[in-house]
Amino acid sequence: MAPTVTSSRAASLDETRSMMHERLKGVVPEIEIEAKVELAHAINVRKRKMNAVILGHNYMEPALYHSVPDYVGDSLQLASIAAETDADVIVFCGVWFMGETAKVLNPSKTVLVPSDKAGCSLAEGITAEDIKRLKERFPGAVVVTYVNTYASAKAESDYCCTSGNADKVIGKLLEQGHTRILFLPDAYLAANTAAQMGVPYLDSESDAAAFDAVAPDQPLVIGWRAKCEVHELFTPEDVDNIRRQYPDAVILAHPECSPEVIAKVDVSGSTKAMVDYVRDVDAPCYALFTECAMGDNLAAEFPHRNMIRACTLRCKHMNFITLEDTLAGLEKLQYKVALAPDLIERARLPIERMIAIR
Ligand code: 13P
Ligand code: SF4
Repeated sequence: MAPTVTSSRAASLDETRSMMHERLKGVVPEIEIEAKVELAHAINVRKRKMNAVILGHNYMEPALYHSVPDYVGDSLQLASIAAETDADVIVFCGVWFMGETAKVLNPSKTVLVPSDKAGCSLAEGITAEDIKRLKERFPGAVVVTYVNTYASAKAESDYCCTSGNADKVIGKLLEQGHTRILFLPDAYLAANTAAQMGVPYLDSESDAAAFDAVAPDQPLVIGWRAKCEVHELFTPEDVDNIRRQYPDAVILAHPECSPEVIAKVDVSGSTKAMVDYVRDVDAPCYALFTECAMGDNLAAEFPHRNMIRACTLRCKHMNFITLEDTLAGLEKLQYKVALAPDLIERARLPIERMIAIR
């Protein structure tokens, strides 16, 4: 999988200015670009001096996404790059659990996330203690945690996955003969992946009769109750409304949306899958059911594509990451991701297994 490399290599202020105007024209007002050129230039100069690499998640706001990251992508792409980088400092322009994943893969490097407020409702939605209790309740079950968890939860897991390879990870476990798969913590991603694989799904809180109805040798995906506070807000009626107004639109949704939404859209996939689709598949127009910066970033990257910019939902956590804080992060070496060595040790294998399954 070739990651997207951005050319944040513009050496002078003027080169940075032209690069940003070229990439962002028609998407970001010129006045805003002008306000951010010097910041972006200062970040790129300092980054090179420090031998730092900047990883930018697909949800970063357009002016940041198109100016300072060396690599942009979804969670899986960025984790893979973090596993291979030879930079001394990794700056993760994404949310905190992403920085933790990079730290687990690079214990001796400095890993920075520009804001210490960039959480995630899924990562907050399960603890290591919750997982220990689930393992007691479902002895012998294999534990898969979504990458959107903290390292303490990953340390209690057998495998991690992202929305980009959840189907492949579950497929591998089925091939290995596992019949009880705890898929934590995103109830919707678990249910959507189970449906995709043709495997029944039960919430871990379901009553005993529901579990008894599934023979022990039949595969079963068992989920938890956490949800993405952004994607859970999309409704099937939103899909109907877009279809009414834009009958020829292709609608793409992230699998953190509810199964009812996923059943109605045309394409479900990770943020990388959305980027690939818009790049590769010709359609009259595209509507994205995900964090709204994605629509702007794709409109800027593929100006010949007609993106419906129905920007309704932003992830407040991703939104904490700004150019200003990225510069402050490099200047003050903040906010450093620190993890206990035993946690790193235990979280490493499930993350490495995730990266190996594509
Ligand atoms: P991706 O792995 O698809 O980039 O998703 C990350 C995320 O946080 C979605 O809300
Ligand atoms: Fe977490 Fe949802 Fe924000 Fe993604 S969009 S970082 S899953 S809260």
